[in-house]
Amino acid sequence: MTGGSRGMTRYATGLLLAGALLLPGGAWAQQTQKKEPPKYIGSETCGKCHIQQHNDWVASGHPYKLRKAEDARRLGLPLPGGYSWDDISYIIGGRNWKLRYMDKQGYIITSTGVMPDAKRDIMSLKDVKRDTPGKNQFNLEDGTWSNYNAGQKNLKYDCGACHTTGYSKEGHQDGLPGIVGTWKETGIGCEGCHGPGGDHVGGKGYKGTIQVRGDKAMCGQCHIRGKAEAIPAGGGFIQHHEQYNELLATKHKALDCVTCHKPHVHAKFKDGLKAQCETCHAKQAADYKGSLMQLGGVKCVDCHMARATKSAVQKAKYEADIRSHLYKINLDPSASMFTPDGKFAKGFLTVEYACLNCHGGRSKDWAIEASKKAIHAYGKK
Ligand code: HEC
Ligand code: HEC
Ligand code: HEC
Ligand code: HEC
Ligand code: HEC
Ligand code: HEC
Ligand code: HEC
Ligand code: HEC
Repeated sequence: MTGGSRGMTRYATGLLLAGALLLPGGAWAQQTQKKEPPKYIGSETCGKCHIQQHNDWVASGHPYKLRKAEDARRLGLPLPGGYSWDDISYIIGGRNWKLRYMDKQGYIITSTGVMPDAKRDIMSLKDVKRDTPGKNQFNLEDGTWSNYNAGQKNLKYDCGACHTTGYSKEGHQDGLPGIVGTWKETGIGCEGCHGPGGDHVGGKGYKGTIQVRGDKAMCGQCHIRGKAEAIPAGGGFIQHHEQYNELLATKHKALDCVTCHKPHVHAKFKDGLKAQCETCHAKQAADYKGSLMQLGGVKCVDCHMARATKSAVQKAKYEADIRSHLYKINLDPSASMFTPDGKFAKGFLTVEYACLNCHGGRSKDWAIEASKKAIHAYGKK
């Protein structure tokens, strides 16, 4: 049971008592049926009382999933060819891996143009034809542009359920026809994980008046792709935003995301994790300490959470840009990470992704042989 469900029970009991005292049974039932869901109050309001959580969250990626052009234009982010900030309504991402753009009608930009000569007047931008398909996704890692649904006409932004807070699929945010649905806050605000906070600040007490769910399915609302039982893949890599699918395929499926992660802190920060690998795997950690690769700066995650997942760019034959959550390294020489059609990962890493990403010049057989020779303690005197 999570604190949240316990809390909700307490809260519900409180209501019941109050209701029973004040109203006849039937009227109480009607009243609860008619009870409005709590209102969203926004992350800034939460931050007034929860300063630490707010500071951590501000430095994480969650708030910045979707940003209004007016909030983003001073950050020095690049624009697709042929566009000025006045032609953009929102930017999508641009915090960790990649950046996409929405036009003034809320459609995702899929065609670009050639920027006029820098010396020419800015007004001449108006004459630029934005009719070349592609070069519409900016990759933060290497500063390149890729094609995303290149040239597709009127590509709707229907991504709000995972990118915004208080999402409803009815209507069009800001009245823009390209946007499917409306939201209360851009990005993953406090209430994206805690639910609306109206009751919490409504004078009914602070404990048990807001959701505190730490189960992996909560994070899995967004860190998922398709059905959770499969791990969609393509182009030799696992696809991104499916950490939930990956985790469920491993022996770590008994853990929650927040067994390892601090929910408010960016994963890459030194203190972003509550539990390190060493916390639970003391034996392997002791073996590894002082080994050749440990001294060479190689970490547990470099092998067991190799970047076999792709969001924006492929860095090498067996390396993309997001850490996988598969952990197990399969040493069977005939093992393949993917189904024959390449469309799904099977739920473990193979040595290509766990070793040859660094040892590019070596073979699969070499890696398997080396792995079998007490790899954690390799080179220890
Ligand atoms: C006016 C101050 C105030 C505001 C605004 C506020 N909180 Fe709280 N919150 C508190 C206090 C006080 C507690 C109780 C702390 C305790 O007893 O440990 C609390 C507790 C919590 C808890 C733990 C609840 C439990 O049952 O254990 C969560 C989660 C939480 N707040 C999230 C939020 C979020 C999200 C928002 C914005 C939607 C928010 N708070 C806005 C004051 C506030
Ligand atoms: C409402 C959707 C949603 C929920 C719920 C959600 N996430 Fe995320 N998460 C995202 C999105 C979208 C991003 C990408 C943000 C960016 O980089 O622009 C992200 C990024 C991250 C990152 C990358 C590092 C960072 O800080 O940028 C981590 C780690 C993460 N989430 C962990 C979690 C955990 C753990 C939970 C549950 C406690 C969770 N998320 C719940 C949508 C969600
Ligand atoms: C990505 C999901 C996510 C987001 C976004 C998020 N929280 Fe939490 N929060 C959690 C989870 C899960 C817990 C339960 C504690 C745990 O497991 O570490 C929690 C716990 C808390 C608590 C209880 C005390 C504590 O720190 O454990 C407070 C208070 C709180 N959150 C406030 C906030 C506020 C304020 C914001 C926005 C600034 C926010 N949270 C944003 C997931 C989230
Ligand atoms: C099921 C939830 C979900 C849906 C639907 C979804 N995303 Fe995401 N997206 C995520 C999560 C979670 C992340 C971050 C974690 C990851 O990439 O593994 C992310 C990351 C991104 C990023 C990179 C963010 C950064 O800061 O680098 C972009 C850009 C993006 N998504 C665009 C889109 C677009 C455009 C759509 C709709 C066509 C969409 N996403 C639909 C969950 C989702
Ligand atoms: C909270 C405790 C905990 C943490 C933290 C943790 N693990 Fe585990 N790990 C487990 C448990 C439990 C198992 C299952 C053991 C079993 O069933 O034999 C496991 C199994 C594994 C396995 C074997 C998988 C298989 O299918 O054979 C690997 C590899 C592994 N963990 C690596 C890691 C790495 C790397 C980290 C750090 C990113 C890590 N673990 C963090 C608890 C943990
Ligand atoms: C150089 C790559 C590499 C590094 C670094 C590494 N491991 Fe491993 N680990 C392996 C290989 C290969 C296996 C064997 C897989 C098998 O036999 O199925 C393994 C197996 C494991 C297992 C499964 C049980 C066992 O001992 O066979 C656990 C748990 C584990 N490692 C944890 C860790 C932890 C914790 C760290 C960091 C302290 C770490 N590993 C660092 C490559 C590595
Ligand atoms: C066994 C521990 C463990 C569990 C369980 C776990 N993670 Fe992670 N996660 C990590 C570690 C370690 C990193 C890498 C941090 C780093 O790059 O140094 C990470 C990184 C991430 C990233 C960022 C990837 C990148 O390359 O920047 C996301 C997103 C993420 N985790 C989401 C989740 C979600 C969602 C869940 C639950 C479905 C989850 N994690 C469960 C340990 C864990
Ligand atoms: C993050 C990069 C990285 C990963 C991943 C990695 N290694 Fe290494 N490996 C190194 C470094 C750095 C050294 C130390 C080079 C030196 O000092 O000679 C090394 C040294 C070695 C050596 C001893 C020197 C040699 O070339 O014979 C072996 C054997 C080895 N690694 C095997 C593996 C195996 C097997 C895996 C996968 C299970 C693996 N490594 C994964 C970086 C990596």
